[in-house]
Amino acid sequence: MNASSSFVSDASSSFVSIGRPVSTVFHYFAYSNGGFRKTHWLGVPILKLPTDLWIYHEIIWKTRPDLIVETGTCKGGSALFFANMFDLMATDGRVITIDITSCPEGYPEHPRIQFITKSSTTPETAALIRSLVRPTDRVMVILDSDHSESHVRNELDLYSPLVSHGCYLVVEDTNVNGHPVYRTHGPGPMEALIDFLASDSGRGFESDVAIVDKFGFTFQPRGWLRRVGRRAAS
Ligand SMILES: C[S@@+](CC[C@H](N)C(=O)[O-])C[C@H]1O[C@@H](n2cnc3c(N)ncnc32)[C@H](O)[C@@H]1O
Repeated sequence: MNASSSFVSDASSSFVSIGRPVSTVFHYFAYSNGGFRKTHWLGVPILKLPTDLWIYHEIIWKTRPDLIVETGTCKGGSALFFANMFDLMATDGRVITIDITSCPEGYPEHPRIQFITKSSTTPETAALIRSLVRPTDRVMVILDSDHSESHVRNELDLYSPLVSHGCYLVVEDTNVNGHPVYRTHGPGPMEALIDFLASDSGRGFESDVAIVDKFGFTFQPRGWLRRVGRRAAS
């Protein structure tokens, strides 16, 4: 980037001065240029920053979940990425991914992935997912569906109890609504996350900020939560 070009536009067409920290300017650039929307994993579209995928790889390796529950499948690229992490680790890991609509082009086939076409926040869906968790599973949860505050807050209530001690609960796209991008989004994942962390159930989690420091920015600021309290008995 040329220092004489003193502004970078964000997705809401407002502007940020390059006088901000370089990491924030780079975040604006990465968001507004939309490269993450044209990213693929083994040919399947995946809506993630490569640096966030590297963080996923590190926490999956470190915490070794048996089951990843993902809300928001889209084209299935992220589910395939998680399944392939389990392939590389040669574990019995499984992925359950939920989306309100199915993908017209079809999903990538992989024996570790179970695709569920339902809204993530109905009591029936939550009960179905609970029934698929085995008592000995170490469970990781990723929330990446509807990014409105109320939806994410509901998902946090429904799915945070599944997360095992030491495993992660990832609240995706906490960067919108001005944190720091897409200021016109309206209350979203970050607002839901702040409310959750102040609640009784949120006290069992802490934001892992150290894990993202090495890259300087993530699309999930404060959204990489590690369970420090025990999972409620099912
Ligand atoms: C950001 S995309 C998911 C991206 C995907 N995880 C990836 O990284 O490639 C969000 C998805 O959430 C789905 N969605 C929206 N509302 C939902 C709901 N109530 N329940 C489940 N999925 C929902 C949308 O259909 C969309 O495919």
